[in-house]
Amino acid sequence: MLSPLTLLLLAPFLVVRVVAHGALASYIINDEEYIGYQPYAPPADQATIARPFPGIDPIRDPLSENLSCNNDGGPVGDGGKQLSAPIHPGDVITGVYGLWLHPFGPALVYMARCPGACVDSNSRDLKWFKIKEEGLIDGSIVYGNWGNGVVSKTGMYNATIPSYLEAGEYLIRHELISLHAIENGPQIYVECAQLKIVPREGESGQGRLPPSRYMVSFPGAYRSSDPGLNVNPFAPGGDEIMAYDIPGPAVWDGKDEESYGEALGALSNW
Ligand SMILES: *[C@@H]1O[C@H](CO)[C@@H](O)[C@H](O)[C@H]1NC(C)=O
Ligand SMILES: *[C@@H]1O[C@H](CO)[C@@H](O)[C@H](O)[C@H]1NC(C)=O
Repeated sequence: MLSPLTLLLLAPFLVVRVVAHGALASYIINDEEYIGYQPYAPPADQATIARPFPGIDPIRDPLSENLSCNNDGGPVGDGGKQLSAPIHPGDVITGVYGLWLHPFGPALVYMARCPGACVDSNSRDLKWFKIKEEGLIDGSIVYGNWGNGVVSKTGMYNATIPSYLEAGEYLIRHELISLHAIENGPQIYVECAQLKIVPREGESGQGRLPPSRYMVSFPGAYRSSDPGLNVNPFAPGGDEIMAYDIPGPAVWDGKDEESYGEALGALSNW
C-alpha cells in the first residue's frame, strides 16, 4: 500500500495508473440532473436513482458475483431512498463521470427489465441486453481512440433508450472496462440506475424486449479468457493492431428477424 505522500510524488509519472479510479457521479435526462450514489457518504442521507456501490475501485474479476451492479444486487439499504427517473423511448441518458483518466478500453451500456418495481429487484437475477458499445473507435490499440477515451475527453457518456422498447421499469448499467493495467487483470467499472420508461404523449407504450439470444446474466456474460479482456495496449506491436473484440453479446438494435417479425405481425393486424 503506497502512502498518500508517495502517491502524490509519483502522480506526475503514474497519473494514468494510480489516481484514475472513478465512478459515475450523476445522470442527465431531458435537461434534468439526477445525482448518483455517493459511496463515501452515509446511505441513509441519500435519495438517488443510482444503485449503491462500495467505492471507486474497479472489479478485477470478470466472474465477480458483484458484476451486475457493483454490489450485492440490492437497492440502497439503511434508510436510503431509492428513486427512479422517468424517460421516454428514444431519449438520451447522459452518464456524467466528471474526471476520468483511463483512455484505453471499451464503454458498454446495458439494460434489464425489472419484473415489477426495480426497487424490489435484485440485479443479479435480471437478464441484461446491450444497448450501446464502443471499443476501439479508430486507430491502433495504443494510439487510437477508445470508448473509455470518449469519457476521458468529455467526462460523460451518452446512450439512447431504444425507441422500440416496451414501457416499464428498467435498470441501466454503465460499464467502462479499462485495459491499461491488464497485467493485473481488466479494471471493470460498473454503476446501475433505475429508470421508468414512460410512453411519449399519444403513444401506447407497446414495444418489445430483445429475443433471448441477446440476453445475458452478470456474472455469466464474460469469461476471463474473453479476448477483449486480455488486450495489452502497450504490448510490442500494439501500434499495428487495429481491431478489438468487445466483450459480451451483440447490441440489440431491434432489427433482428424475431423482433421485426413481431412488429410486422402487429402491423398486419391493423
Ligand atoms: C460485493 O459488494 C458488497 C457491497 O454490496 C461488498 O460488501 C462485497 O465485499 C463485494 N464482494 C466482492 C467479492 O467484491
Ligand atoms: C451528450 O448529451 C448531452 C446532454 O445531456 C449533450 O450536451 C452532449 O452534447 C452529448 N454529447 C454527445 C457526444 O453527443
